[in-house]
Amino acid sequence: MERIFGRPIVTQEQMRTRIRELGRQIASDYAGKDLVLVGVLKGAYAFYADLARASRIPMRVEFIVVTSYGAGKKSSGKVKLVSDLTEPIAGKDVLLVEDIVDSGLTVQYLMKTLSRRKPRSLKVCTLLSKPDRRTVEVDLEYVGFKIPNKFVVGYGLDYRQEYRNLPYLAALDQGDEQEQESA
Ligand code: IMP
Ligand code: MG
Repeated sequence: MERIFGRPIVTQEQMRTRIRELGRQIASDYAGKDLVLVGVLKGAYAFYADLARASRIPMRVEFIVVTSYGAGKKSSGKVKLVSDLTEPIAGKDVLLVEDIVDSGLTVQYLMKTLSRRKPRSLKVCTLLSKPDRRTVEVDLEYVGFKIPNKFVVGYGLDYRQEYRNLPYLAALDQGDEQEQESA
């Protein structure tokens, strides 16, 4: 696996440093609040585990599972809720933790769905953002890395459900029209 992706575009060390910074900032911004950290599975699992441990304040951990289906490297916008939160979030300070914001459609869907439940606050923390790919405007409070328009794998992100456990982020370089079906 590591032979295939010899050159990381974000190394393990860069991940560690940046996630530590994000954790410190979240700890400071959410001190004294009623934080529920909502991980968007599967893609956010690796980032989530690191971020939660880097944010040294009380929090509840929750997960939501969505899939977005699309051909090529584009989300179709048809986001499907596969598994919901286990507790109500009314009155809570909810921070959504995403792997990557590409078109923005997944985050837009989640913000719409969760805001109906009347959290006190609802913000987004994403490990990665591809600003050039945005088709809808979304407000991202915390962004780990802005990356160019390349299909990336590792650190939770997959290509056809593989490579999620790669311990760094690598570009998958096989042309432009790969199918994508990711969560
Ligand atoms: P959206 O287009 O912002 O809705 O992103 C939809 C989902 O597509 C993300 O949550 C990821 O699961 C997936 N995705 C987008 N870009 C990439 C990528 O470069 N590698 C792997 N998955 C991606
Ligand atoms: Mg995702």
